[in-house]
Amino acid sequence: MEIQQLFESHGQNQVFRFWKELSEQERSQLVSQAEEIDLRELDNLVDTLVKRKGETAHLDYSKLQPAPYLPIPEDRSKDAQWQEAKRIGEEALRAGKVAAFTVAGGQGTRLGYDGPKGTFPVTPVKSKSLFQVFAEKIQAARVCYQSSIPWFIMTSDINHQATVSFFEENDYFGLEAGSVSFFRQGRMPAVDFEGKIILDGKGSIAMSPDGHGGALRALDRSGSLDAMQKAGIEAISYFQVDNPLVQPVDPYFIGFHLKTGSTMSSKMLPKAYEKEKLGHFCVLDGTTQIVEYSDMPDELCALRDEDGQLSFRAGSIAIHVISLSFARDLATGGSDLSLPFHRADKKIPFVDEAGEIQKPDTPNGVKFEMFVFDAIPFANNPLIIETTRLNDFSPVKNAEGVDSPESCKADQVALYKSWLEAVGVSVPDDFAHSIEISPLFATDSDSFVMAWSRKPQRLDFSGDIYISG
Ligand code: UTP
Repeated sequence: MEIQQLFESHGQNQVFRFWKELSEQERSQLVSQAEEIDLRELDNLVDTLVKRKGETAHLDYSKLQPAPYLPIPEDRSKDAQWQEAKRIGEEALRAGKVAAFTVAGGQGTRLGYDGPKGTFPVTPVKSKSLFQVFAEKIQAARVCYQSSIPWFIMTSDINHQATVSFFEENDYFGLEAGSVSFFRQGRMPAVDFEGKIILDGKGSIAMSPDGHGGALRALDRSGSLDAMQKAGIEAISYFQVDNPLVQPVDPYFIGFHLKTGSTMSSKMLPKAYEKEKLGHFCVLDGTTQIVEYSDMPDELCALRDEDGQLSFRAGSIAIHVISLSFARDLATGGSDLSLPFHRADKKIPFVDEAGEIQKPDTPNGVKFEMFVFDAIPFANNPLIIETTRLNDFSPVKNAEGVDSPESCKADQVALYKSWLEAVGVSVPDDFAHSIEISPLFATDSDSFVMAWSRKPQRLDFSGDIYISG
């Protein structure tokens, strides 16, 4: 068979070693998995990342500089530059030039939740899912800007069906079904430390999602870029599925992106402490890029400016605006523009020679992933703006501790308290319950002040408080 010969010629004939034992259906499944694999790309990755352990070794840290960013003013409403950006962003939103885009293809192993992460109940009072929170924020923006604001969601093979079913079962949380599009990201095979593709069943290759950087290829392959272009979209507002505090379409951010002619913009937060696990915005030889926390030398993490602030303080929170034209260039621009793959050593279940499934206790193989932030070095005028934690960032990554459901709920309650305080409602010091404000009532402090003036409420602090639209 042609495909077997092809795999043999790339030294990967072990993929078909149980062929004789497979049923017709298993054979066709294996062939279709095999056809997904670009063997030339894989050879190259095995050569550079597995056999030579390449990657970031070439980075000259002595030349690394902190990337400049636009600091957030104390009061944005009094800052002419920020107000102008807001106006431009709102205009783009009203004109239907912005799409929301969620990457939700990850495996969410750290959280250990059984199901797509977007279905995880995250809010403090109503236990709304992450997807519901985003849906309501997008719905609020659609109403505010009288605009369609399409929503694209990238899934992966592992969670695609469950994600679509979740939206169907919940009537798309009030959004029109046709205004939400789902597409699957690509997959990559896992290999052992010799570069041999791993089987996780006799007729099944160990495949996994190709990382959030796979979004750019998948946006193109799925026809989503064409659909966006047809709808007149110019800017893609990118965010991750695990962060309910994100503003899915932030007029300030979109406005700055458009106003500065940036093709990929990012939000940053000053790191809370030296070793906070955020990627660092850096400049190397005039090019802006993110250096992962695991690659950043301790002495650079600890370096301080004269005023005592961390020098490399700009941490990435994975919120971007990407120009449609740039996304297309990256997806179709050939090797000059393609994102690099990174290696991750993992424990990968595999079938042994006897055909038994083994679950290793230590890493036995390599997965390949692309990171979306690797697009930044290719961008024109890559802009970085500062935001605040409560207004944009409290991800649910781990089951407990830092970035957990508990810490995220506490942050949501702190945000809502601050909104109430802004309208003169003080929450009693001994208040031991939760507060939740529906995005259909307000999505930020400004809109809360307006909504409250129209619809003030008497709050009973003897239990949980939920303010709805
Ligand atoms: P993470 O890096 O937190 O990975 O993803 P994860 O798979 O969700 O979780 P762990 O590491 O297994 O615990 C950050 C964001 O990127 C998306 C995730 O869905 C999340 O929104 N992502 C990640 C993808 O869409 N595809 C991928 O292949 C990886």
